[in-house]
Amino acid sequence: MKIWVPSQDIMDVLSDLPEGLPEPDCAIYDGNGDLPGKPEDVEIWVPPLGWISGIPALLGRMHGLRLLQTVTAGVDAYRPYLPEQAVLCNARGVHDAGTAEWVVGAMLAMLREFPGFALAQQRCEWDYHHTAALADSTVLIVGYGSIGEAVERRLAGFEVDVVRVARTPRESENVYGEDALPKLLPKADVVVLLVPATPATDRMVDAGFLNWMKDGAVLVNAARGSVVDIDALLPEVSGGRLRAVLDVAPTEPLPPEHPLWTAPGVFITPHVAGSTPASARRIRRLVREQIIRYLSGRPLANMITGEY
Ligand code: GLV
Repeated sequence: MKIWVPSQDIMDVLSDLPEGLPEPDCAIYDGNGDLPGKPEDVEIWVPPLGWISGIPALLGRMHGLRLLQTVTAGVDAYRPYLPEQAVLCNARGVHDAGTAEWVVGAMLAMLREFPGFALAQQRCEWDYHHTAALADSTVLIVGYGSIGEAVERRLAGFEVDVVRVARTPRESENVYGEDALPKLLPKADVVVLLVPATPATDRMVDAGFLNWMKDGAVLVNAARGSVVDIDALLPEVSGGRLRAVLDVAPTEPLPPEHPLWTAPGVFITPHVAGSTPASARRIRRLVREQIIRYLSGRPLANMITGEY
């Protein structure tokens, strides 16, 4: 059984599977350079964490693929091209810690103006002034799932009100539906986006959404670039009414000439929220457990079916 994995460390955790299971024939494909064999022969593909080109064409050749196990929570890069006979599983839970840490760091950095102070430091300038703070603010999490819960746990010591929104409202857990956004957005100091990229969330943060946000609020996007209408965001940040911290962009890598790079009040990181040793450890654990499930004929975890 041919398995393509993205790195040596993942190959290593598949080298000593429990006795009695068929030994997989692993090859490394990290998205660069030549393919390690014929895509037609691959039964399980674990693609790399970062962006790679040519996914539609590659999946189009994977006629024997049975399982596509992503190491990301988002599956938008793969789902539209999944061969009919294959199942798609995501890495739900794997990035909760890393992404939640990034989200809390992002809101603190923007509210306490770390990017501006870093620039002042480069000018050797003691730029004393008061800043906003996270304490006493309201943080609205849009797309409240396992990463949202991890964000909320980390915010527990910051004396903030956390408001939760998800596609499916869950009254018992105080999770509002998206129809409550016009009422909730004007009260939020920080709006965190964690929704998956689907046709329903494409540009959900449009001019109307941004208009409901309160003056001085911070938008934190740890979801996907497609969720925010950048043409609507640019005038809001350029005019100084809103600020934004973005780990994701409409096109990745964001081209050097893109106006987002130089827009005032925008702090960009290059899709790094889940790129940490903590996530890497969890990825290894997930892939190993999932392959064991597959090889022993047990039900797979994190299968993506219907809406997710
Ligand atoms: C990262 O972007 C992920 O989807 O996990």
